[in-house]
Amino acid sequence: MSSQDTKTAQLSYDGNSYDLPVHVGTENETAVDISKLRSEAGLITLDPGYGNTGSCKSSITYIDGDKGILRYRGYAIEDLAKNSTFLEVAYLLLNGELPTPEENTAFTDSITQHTMLNENFRSLFLSMPTNAHPMPVMSAAVSAMSCFYQGDEYGEHEGDINTIRLISKIPTLAAWSYKHSIGQPFLYPKNHLSYAGNFLKMMFGNPCEEFEVDPVVEKALDILLILHADHEQNCSTSTVRMVGSSHANLFASISAGVSALWGPLHGGANQKVIEMLNAIADRGETAESFVEKAKNPDDPTRLMGFGHRVYKNYDPRAAVLKGACHDVVERLGIDSKQLEIGMKLEEIALNDEYFVKRKLFPNVDFYSGIIYKSLGIPVDMFTVMFAMGRLPGWIAQWREMNADPAARIDRPRQVYMGANERKYFTSK
Ligand code: ACO
Repeated sequence: MSSQDTKTAQLSYDGNSYDLPVHVGTENETAVDISKLRSEAGLITLDPGYGNTGSCKSSITYIDGDKGILRYRGYAIEDLAKNSTFLEVAYLLLNGELPTPEENTAFTDSITQHTMLNENFRSLFLSMPTNAHPMPVMSAAVSAMSCFYQGDEYGEHEGDINTIRLISKIPTLAAWSYKHSIGQPFLYPKNHLSYAGNFLKMMFGNPCEEFEVDPVVEKALDILLILHADHEQNCSTSTVRMVGSSHANLFASISAGVSALWGPLHGGANQKVIEMLNAIADRGETAESFVEKAKNPDDPTRLMGFGHRVYKNYDPRAAVLKGACHDVVERLGIDSKQLEIGMKLEEIALNDEYFVKRKLFPNVDFYSGIIYKSLGIPVDMFTVMFAMGRLPGWIAQWREMNADPAARIDRPRQVYMGANERKYFTSK
């Protein structure tokens, strides 16, 4: 919840002075309200990439990027990762409070009752080329849910069935997109398994053999999902809100979020991290020489998994994952070349003036790629895993936007730099 303070900011322009209201959030984040600037002063603001623009008031997630703090509904990400399950965190994001045992049972039951896909989804998957990346397949499948569940349009209420459907079915969609890519039969969900366990079975099981869910892998996956569950107004979440602001339905809005997440500067970075680590290993390159390339402004190479628009300190999710990464590698007895190279890159970069000066630290993707690899998740599926984790956050943000009486269709302005009006001319 945020309040409007009695403070105002003054803007002087062209000999006139304008009072602009100032809003203060519960963590003292302070914002100048420029919504009337155009009507009163004939001015718009220019902020490419929205790096200093508050697009909404939100009560879901708090980040202090300078201090490396991330909280969902007031709870520290470290505490949630240690003590909660992903479904409890999903409930928290959606409803504002951690569930009581009864609420938890009811929520988990409803999620496990909707895991199956309409059988016609098979043809949607089968119509895609087998070498398709699973992210566009997932985006298409989520969008297609609008066709299967019509009539539940904009204005969804808390606990609405479409929220449950999406959270229940996304592991099935994700696993089926993978099964299609390797030409194996689709497996149906087993509802006695945990959320992560069910996904692992549909992903790695096959009809010919028994599949036992490894509890180490199951736990690690659950933590990964928690760490990705929300991150306030990032690119994909802002996309979900923007699409939803036109009153597009939940499935259409989430499908757009999946597409936005796919980009290598956003969720796609986890795949790029492993590709980078593999390339370094394959070329026999040293971590030092790779870091030099990443620093060279004439070289497009970037140290993937480093840097963040908001965190100018260690990303707290990366800190949790770094520990989990070592645990998983040790407990599964894996000899991880990627982890070794990653640790070396991190050590060099954290002590290098270029990275220190620009406050570039490892982000969540730096270690998530290594951990997914250790869990046996194929590289193409990394961003899909991210999307599964981010889903409750996207839905919570979409619902918050719909419930906000101040919400309007998102429609930024621009500073036009093109040609002035000219006389039509053709040489025909
Ligand atoms: N490697 C080398 N240099 C970097 C890196 C990097 N990973 N990231 C930023 N820089 C440099 C830039 O070249 C720039 O240098 P300059 O000031 O000399 O021009 C400076 O640091 C600032 O970088 P910007 O790109 O302006 O920062 P921005 O906030 O726009 O971008 C981003 C943030 C996209 C995350 C960027 O750091 C990046 O590309 N990182 C690698 C990709 C990545 O890991 N993305 C995942 C982000 S987390 C997530 O979405 C879940």
